[in-house]
Amino acid sequence: MTRLDVEFGSITADNIEHLRRINGASFPIVYNQAYYKDLLDQDDASQLNQFAFYKGQIVGAICAVLQDIAAGDQHVYIRTLAVLAAYRGRGIGSQLMERLLHYCEQRPSVMEVSLHVQISNDDAIDFYTNKFQFTKGELVENYYRRVDPPHCYRLYRVIRKGDSNA
Ligand code: ACO
Repeated sequence: MTRLDVEFGSITADNIEHLRRINGASFPIVYNQAYYKDLLDQDDASQLNQFAFYKGQIVGAICAVLQDIAAGDQHVYIRTLAVLAAYRGRGIGSQLMERLLHYCEQRPSVMEVSLHVQISNDDAIDFYTNKFQFTKGELVENYYRRVDPPHCYRLYRVIRKGDSNA
């Protein structure tokens, strides 16, 4: 299918209802009010939380967070990535991911990007591991509540190696 080139825009307090709609349509988990507030109350929120627009319509979103891991080093953790079903398989998820990876590569403190994915979500596991060279890490049992299956994998991609002399 033809790739649809999208434009990007930050997720803000004014448009976050669209994120609720996309997440509600894409995930078996319902995220609460605190979750959405936390997304916006963090460093680099406007770069880490992005919508994809196609012909002016919001069709996908990626939300990530910077986490401190050791003196000066950080991880980027992807909380959610979703594209509306009618627009999947047209390169939109890839463009959101490429933009986030570009952010990671530009920020010298970022060592790794990671996420959790439900073990039954074959499309997403393929997307991350085959298309974006993420490594399938540990199985985390009972990670989700009220979702079947409740288990997930941690997927990760190394952005840069730490200083081995540090
Ligand atoms: N149909 C066809 N191919 C697909 C599909 C699909 N539904 N999904 C992924 N692919 C494959 C293709 O092979 C494609 O490879 P190619 O570019 O070489 O052809 C590759 O994955 C990239 O596909 P995109 O079109 O860029 O991905 P898409 O826009 O469909 O987004 C996503 C992928 C975000 C996983 C989407 O399927 C989705 O929203 N799923 C529901 C929500 C979800 O499961 N999100 C991830 C959970 S983990 C987390 O959020 C941290």
